[in-house]
Amino acid sequence: MNDRIFIEGGHKLKGNVQIQGSKNAALPMMAASLLHRGVSVLKGCPRIADVFCMEEILQNLGAVTWWEDHDLYLDCTKADKTEVPFSFTGRMRSSVILLGALLGRNKKGSLGYPGGCVIGKRPIDMHLLVLESLGARIQEVAGQLSAECERMKGTEFSFPKRSVGATQQGILGAVLAKGETVLENCACEPEISWLCHYLRTMGAQITGDGTGRICVSGVEGLRGGSSWVPPDRIVAGTYICAAAITRSQIVLENPPEGELKAFLEVYRKMGGQYKGNSGKLLVNGKNVQSPVKLLETGVYPGFPTDLQSPVMAVLSTIEGESCIREMVFEDRYKAADQLRKMGARIRVQGNEAVICGVKTLHGAAVQAQELRGGASLILAALGAKGVTVLEGYSFVQRGYEHICQDLNALGAAVKRIQE
Ligand code: EPZ
Repeated sequence: MNDRIFIEGGHKLKGNVQIQGSKNAALPMMAASLLHRGVSVLKGCPRIADVFCMEEILQNLGAVTWWEDHDLYLDCTKADKTEVPFSFTGRMRSSVILLGALLGRNKKGSLGYPGGCVIGKRPIDMHLLVLESLGARIQEVAGQLSAECERMKGTEFSFPKRSVGATQQGILGAVLAKGETVLENCACEPEISWLCHYLRTMGAQITGDGTGRICVSGVEGLRGGSSWVPPDRIVAGTYICAAAITRSQIVLENPPEGELKAFLEVYRKMGGQYKGNSGKLLVNGKNVQSPVKLLETGVYPGFPTDLQSPVMAVLSTIEGESCIREMVFEDRYKAADQLRKMGARIRVQGNEAVICGVKTLHGAAVQAQELRGGASLILAALGAKGVTVLEGYSFVQRGYEHICQDLNALGAAVKRIQE
């Protein structure tokens, strides 16, 4: 299957771009739909590989799903199977949050061990700890995790460290548990609040989402959910980086309100300008020229780790020395060696990357190895002189619905050769 794209750099960008629905909000909302034996709907859902994979998993459990444009309908009336095979969990780690939903629905569930990936080991110890705290008995047999419980019981649990997925796991396990659950040291990412918003449309009783302390009062049952999927804050940040790296001006039609503060602070430090205008975001990257002394990623509301590689590409084209410190994942500089092929000067030492920006990068043959690193290579290619051939476009398709069409509509020259 042709997995490559060609990007001719050096084109200025101009015009408006619509931001797709959020991958990282849609996936847990899809898992939550299992908690009702009926129809739920996610409006404005992104049509991306990871969503199609989660859809396949739910179908495999017995759900019936269908699309009306970007509205995804999930009928979980008959989704009574309880096993998610490794063929799925090996492909998409975030499927691990289905365990909490399977336990909430069926009092049992089993899934292939999700394993790590190129950006780090990505253990799931806290996922299992919070479910055990709710009364689940979990064992690992030959790489398969199997869990069972009577009805889960409310608990008080404090996460040893902040984790988006483990927080979602705890919430999904608690909404149908008997009694009250208090979760401390929760992740505060917007996707947590969007999951809780969706669960509340299903009748769940949850407060405190967006803070470190979330309280859940277990209920006897849930009704069908219905919610919009919010615009993807990481896709929005990626497109702002595209404007920055090409020193262009673009307009985001539907920016994620208030979810990009830490990123925009760094973008402004680079010399980027932006302003809100009747719900749109006008982005002007023409004066991007200042290196960033130190950029540290962190849990929300800190700088999002998912925008670290895209910003690294931009910093590679800003003369002077910038430094990035990756505090969330232990191996998230995979894009650096590919950016070097395009002339970037990046030195990686442990969790730090020192970038000595150059005036112009040049096109090269590069390989994406994971989603956000792949996006950063596309960004670098937009700003480079000459043509870049990117292998591994399927990694990018996991999270970006139509990045090639979007960029071409803004004036870029990105081509896929369908074999
Ligand atoms: C979510 O992953 C996102 N994925 C990631 O986006 C994102 O980078 C990450 O949150 C951080 O914001 C989805 O939402 C589907 P974590 P998640 O648990 O939940 C460690 C993308 O590109 N940890 O918050 O897996 C973990 O290893 C993806 O869209 C444990 O030690 O991230 C990491 O170092 C990439 N034990 C840190 O916590 C656990 O049990 C934060 O990970 C769980 C996590």
